[in-house]
Amino acid sequence: MAMLKVKDLQVYYGMIHAIKGVSFHVNEGEIIALIGANGAGKTTILHTITGLLTPKGGQVMFEGKDITKTPAHKIVELGMAHVPEGRRVFAQLSVYQNLKMGAYTRSDKNEIEESLEMVYKRFPRLEERKNQMAGTLSGGEQQMLAMGRA
Ligand SMILES: Nc1ncnc2c1ncn2[C@@H]1O[C@H](COP(=O)(O)OP(=O)(O)O)[C@@H](O)[C@H]1O
Ligand SMILES: [Mg+2]
Repeated sequence: MAMLKVKDLQVYYGMIHAIKGVSFHVNEGEIIALIGANGAGKTTILHTITGLLTPKGGQVMFEGKDITKTPAHKIVELGMAHVPEGRRVFAQLSVYQNLKMGAYTRSDKNEIEESLEMVYKRFPRLEERKNQMAGTLSGGEQQMLAMGRA
């Protein structure tokens, strides 16, 4: 079963028909690149998958569950997060504090340290710099932080 399945997506901005029948799927562990000209609709597709936009037609399935009409914050709770182009790390907070912010709404507080270990394993640089102010990280390090937080 595909982890993420997008089927015949139709998205409008008012009268503008921005996405006309896009379908694709992503399997677990797979990396997929969405390529298109400026204004082709890449960001629109991502916003629709994560619930920031609601499609007029089509379907988004995540781990077998229909999330087409699920609100964005519930989709995050299901385990899917969008890391946008602008990294939006909290510049005045440390790396560690930024990562903790990513767990702000989690109820399983005891397991947060375990998740942090997973992030540090994936991005050892973040562990080395956990007390550094996020705004002073390099661009690539900030990208790691944004992904780790997500
Ligand atoms: N909020 C909006 N209102 C009206 N049109 C929008 C809005 N957001 C995006 N669009 C239009 O939808 C199309 C797709 O935009 P977008 O998904 O941002 O493209 P991409 O990320 O592929 O560059 C563009 O023509 C853009 O101008
Ligand atoms: Mg875009």
